[in-house]
Amino acid sequence: MGRTNEPPRLPEGGFAAWSRDRLAMARRGAEECGDVWQLEPGIYVAAAAGPCEEVLRRAQDFPKAPSPLFPPMRRSSGAPTPEERAYAHAARMRGLRAQAVAARIGEIAPGTARFADEWPTGEDVEILPPVRHTLAEIGVHYLFSEDAPALLPFAAQLFLAREVLVRPSRWSWPRWVPTPARRFRTRQQVAFTDALRPVVARRRSSGRLGDDMLGQMLRPSPRYGLLPEEAVLDTLPGITVATFETPSRAAGWILLHLARYPQAADRVAAEAALLPADPAATTITHLESLRYTQAVVREVLRLHPPSWLLTRRVARQTQLADYTVEAGATMLVCPYTAHRDPREHPEPDRFRPERWLDDADPPAKPGAFLSFGTGPHGCEGTALAMAMLTLLTAQTARRRRLSEPPGPDPSHQVTTFEGLAPAGLRLRAVPRG
Ligand code: HEM
Repeated sequence: MGRTNEPPRLPEGGFAAWSRDRLAMARRGAEECGDVWQLEPGIYVAAAAGPCEEVLRRAQDFPKAPSPLFPPMRRSSGAPTPEERAYAHAARMRGLRAQAVAARIGEIAPGTARFADEWPTGEDVEILPPVRHTLAEIGVHYLFSEDAPALLPFAAQLFLAREVLVRPSRWSWPRWVPTPARRFRTRQQVAFTDALRPVVARRRSSGRLGDDMLGQMLRPSPRYGLLPEEAVLDTLPGITVATFETPSRAAGWILLHLARYPQAADRVAAEAALLPADPAATTITHLESLRYTQAVVREVLRLHPPSWLLTRRVARQTQLADYTVEAGATMLVCPYTAHRDPREHPEPDRFRPERWLDDADPPAKPGAFLSFGTGPHGCEGTALAMAMLTLLTAQTARRRRLSEPPGPDPSHQVTTFEGLAPAGLRLRAVPRG
């Protein structure tokens, strides 16, 4: 990167300090070195709303590497064609768009209500595993409807495989080396795919394709025709894990905030009292009426974006925020620091859900809220995630008062490698009278 006033590198610490505490270093880099800074030669960090948004929007100049987590399985017809990829993408978008989610709120709400009802009271509970299980049930049901129970156990294994794969290791093996973690991943991917194959065959032969995500993928498109079965099977492991992995990290942060901010929890509970007693009767109108609850979810996602650092490559020499960046460099996009920039969010470290309700001064600048990314690779599951998280928050606050275990130390560790998460979080619930 070059221009006359070259962005200063980190004054001290460099990669070693980054490895020790990535969040602290990200903040220090942004504070000391500006909106775009340099971590190492060839590794840049976009740290503020403007440059973050620009990198994500300009996907030609800053392409995203294809996800290596569940790569396409080897098949006789060769690699997926660009047309297949485009069709699979279009089918996913159809299945996950806001209208499709809105039509299924009554299927999402019972699961989140059950989570709150079944939370054992009066004892400290490690809460991320049951949250993940609940959201997996909801997510897998969203994708596969009545076929979900047969697929859920395989989905849990896919999650495990992904966790093992992204765990930091001392070596970064070339992609083709079959490490134990990669072999485990492949076995779980094959198991999931084998469980899915008969479901696809049955739906196709019966002609009842279904209205869920799988149904969308099995429908011929006027533009691309029929998506080959292998392409359907390749797309679904990643999307299945996506329905609950990041949402459960977000849910952990939200529950922690309900425990830490009882007044906010009371306000959520009051709003949630207007939801129907039978969760299955919940509609999009009910969901839309939970304005304060949505603001709580958004505010927690601002403070703790689970995808706090996104990676892009620099395809060709280009300009970013007045700097020249060289081809082949890595560009890290940091929603975490963009969200804690006082120029965009006054008192940025304060939890203040009201900031999202204040119509007079909405923090609406592009890039000011990047928890779901933006541009061509922006999150496809935003509507589903917001529906699940808003209902989980409302129904939990309505039924339970939460607190952290007593004692000076937090019950969780902040992890940054598998996404920003409160690992090991323990909370205590009592019934709300
Ligand atoms: C709170 C929950 C969620 C958060 C914070 C979140 C965040 C994100 C972010 C930041 C990206 C952009 C990544 C990048 O630019 O490199 C992304 C992409 C994506 N998300 Fe989500 N996500 C959530 C839930 C979901 C759900 C429920 C699904 C759906 C099933 C989903 C499916 C996807 C997919 C398929 C992409 C890839 C888009 C692409 O590369 O073109 N996400 N998500």
